[in-house]
Amino acid sequence: MKISTSQLVAWDDPLSSAITSNGRNYLDPLSEQAPTESSEREKSLLPLEQQAHEQLAPINVQDKRVVNAATDINQLAPFKYPWAWEFFLNANKNHWTPLDINMAQDVNDYHHKLTTEERHVYENVLAYLTTSDILAMRNIGLAVMEKMTAPELQIYQARQVYEEALHTWTYQHCIETLGLDQSEIYNRYRVIPEIHGKITMANQRLSSVLRPDIDLHNRDDLEQFVHSYLFFAAVFEGCWFYNGFSPIFALQRRGLMKGTGEQLQYIMRDEVMHCAFGLRVVRQLLSEESLSLDPTRVNDMWEEAEAAEQAYARFLLSEPILGYSAEDHIGQFRFIANRRAKQLHLAEPFPGAENRLPWLDEQASMRKEKNFFETRVTEYQAGAALSW
Ligand SMILES: [Fe+2]
Ligand SMILES: [Fe+2]
Repeated sequence: MKISTSQLVAWDDPLSSAITSNGRNYLDPLSEQAPTESSEREKSLLPLEQQAHEQLAPINVQDKRVVNAATDINQLAPFKYPWAWEFFLNANKNHWTPLDINMAQDVNDYHHKLTTEERHVYENVLAYLTTSDILAMRNIGLAVMEKMTAPELQIYQARQVYEEALHTWTYQHCIETLGLDQSEIYNRYRVIPEIHGKITMANQRLSSVLRPDIDLHNRDDLEQFVHSYLFFAAVFEGCWFYNGFSPIFALQRRGLMKGTGEQLQYIMRDEVMHCAFGLRVVRQLLSEESLSLDPTRVNDMWEEAEAAEQAYARFLLSEPILGYSAEDHIGQFRFIANRRAKQLHLAEPFPGAENRLPWLDEQASMRKEKNFFETRVTEYQAGAALSW
């Protein structure tokens, strides 16, 4: 069958074929109005192959939306959110596995150098983090990603899902290497109220947006979704994770549990990006949907988060360890919470909070590339090669 040249897609310059044979210009939003009866009738008279060609017309970048887009969501470019693609490229620069880091000294430190109080801190931080990262993975993978309607957003989130799984592997690797009782550690979030409180707060928000009947065209549901995503980005990742590693960094700074400390530094770099990306998506969503955050709801979120963090810190550090106390932990939570609020142009929830741990930001931004290969474990690669 002969096909006229006007029906061919110019693959080198797909946008040049945006003006179709019936005169509709897919680059011009004004021509995207509902077709008239006569144009519909004309369309139905076109040969089948020409109708198919019309469906292949490139998408209009302005039709992309964070949620509720009515356009093809399988086409990556043109980007409406080039910053999301940059996040993806940057995320790939922080690539490691827990097997890369030498844990030999940690085994000795845990069994022979840590005090009872320090062991209590170490174990419970891991117990909290393991469950948290499962929740973080489920939030992005099951509740958030499927609602996004631009592929550049979904691609970074796909990477995020992998990273959360990698973090869970990292904690498991630490627990296994030190020979801790796995079932006991993993069950702690269920039996220790101070850990359970934080998990419950996250679980409630996750469940509220995992409902199969959630409809983001409904304003109440959309607001629920935005507030839940805000919680996960700003509180869960932006504060609880960011500050959650610091008790172990305090040990690392004294030359103890340095392998675990290094593992957590890699995780922290991922979490900083997860938080920044999440907050960026929230800002985009608010602007696209002409929504604003409910100040009372946001304030309640910070208060509830702070109460949960206080209880957790008082349990974790009922006895302070050298260089780290419950007051440091709570004070730092408040300080970081103010930073997250500012990123969203919101009022500080804890005015006057001080930077109790000025070294914490260094832990996130420290360039590990320099000494990565000095500490990297290479033996596992040879072992794996021989074991097949
Ligand atoms: Fe994580
Ligand atoms: Fe995360």
